[in-house]
Amino acid sequence: MSDASEQHGTDSGADLVLRQPDDWHVHLRDDAMLAFAARYTARQFARAIIMPNLVPPVTTVAAGAAYRERIMAVLPEDSGFTPLMTAYLTDEIDPGEIETGFKSGVFTACKLYPAGATTNSASGVTDVRKIWPVLERMETIGMPLLVHGEVVSPDIDIFDREAVFLEQVLSLVLRDFPALKVVLEHITTEDSVQFVEAAGPTLGATITAHHLRIDRNAMFQGGLRPHAYCLPVAKRRRHREALRKIATSGHPRFFLGTDSAPHPKHEKESACGCAGIFSAPAALESYAQTFEEEGALDRLEGFASEFGPRFYGLPLNEGTVTLNRQPHAIPELMGTDAIHVVPFHAGETLAWRLAG
Ligand code: DOR
Ligand code: ZN
Repeated sequence: MSDASEQHGTDSGADLVLRQPDDWHVHLRDDAMLAFAARYTARQFARAIIMPNLVPPVTTVAAGAAYRERIMAVLPEDSGFTPLMTAYLTDEIDPGEIETGFKSGVFTACKLYPAGATTNSASGVTDVRKIWPVLERMETIGMPLLVHGEVVSPDIDIFDREAVFLEQVLSLVLRDFPALKVVLEHITTEDSVQFVEAAGPTLGATITAHHLRIDRNAMFQGGLRPHAYCLPVAKRRRHREALRKIATSGHPRFFLGTDSAPHPKHEKESACGCAGIFSAPAALESYAQTFEEEGALDRLEGFASEFGPRFYGLPLNEGTVTLNRQPHAIPELMGTDAIHVVPFHAGETLAWRLAG
């Protein structure tokens, strides 16, 4: 390490310099929303794992490559950003297609959405056993599996869906595919924290900025708050405390994944509002605020910039980003003439601002 990089993660008075981070879970969308939203991820993160839940979903190598092109086309040529594409698993997906995508460098990983679990998951997997041959192939070729860890059975309480998934689905996957790398995405419960901690080196987890800051009360604060609604839904306070503790602990299998998921304002503020929180505009600042509150600013760099690439077996980024300690007012509303989006932390003032 150079002299400069030895200071990474330290608070040198006003600034915090970090090795450039990556976002290991983000929704960039398509069309006008993509053109609006992508810049916020690209200005903070060197790489991001791009979720494939478009309409139609990204299920072929050609669709993955075309989506990657569309992402790059809305960014400036010198953005330096690398989108890491994922394939959306369906009951019928062909293991050969997945392997071709991985070996040709189009796909970095596959995403498992249980059918009906969340936004645009209707084509997801109806029974995880149906994709056993795909998981077998992924294990063989070393391709990671990213999971939306919730069961969807209507008789399971929505607040229990993640915990039941661990027992009914994830345990089986880990048992039958001991060498498959799995990331349990956007964990929201103490159960998941303990499950991942107890598992071996093949299981990691991402933690969002918002699940570190809101519990389920946020959805009902003085009225119904659709902008605090996401999936998995935020849980009780004790679960949030467990997430904050593990995220700031320096445990190398828990890392940054924003799950930033923009929806137009009118689709959130509706009789059947969409799930998703648009955290990309100030994601790193939000994480920094949480780490500072926990007295763990020196551990932010590991969580944001080191543990993810190490888990995926990718090189660490060489560049740095700087967070200035500077009041940072988050707008109530963002967007263009055509799209209005309410960001996470709308109307609040954060303590950090990304320089540049
Ligand atoms: O809140 C969420 N929004 N959770 C998801 O799993 C999907 C995402 C979206 O695509 O809107
Ligand atoms: Zn997501």
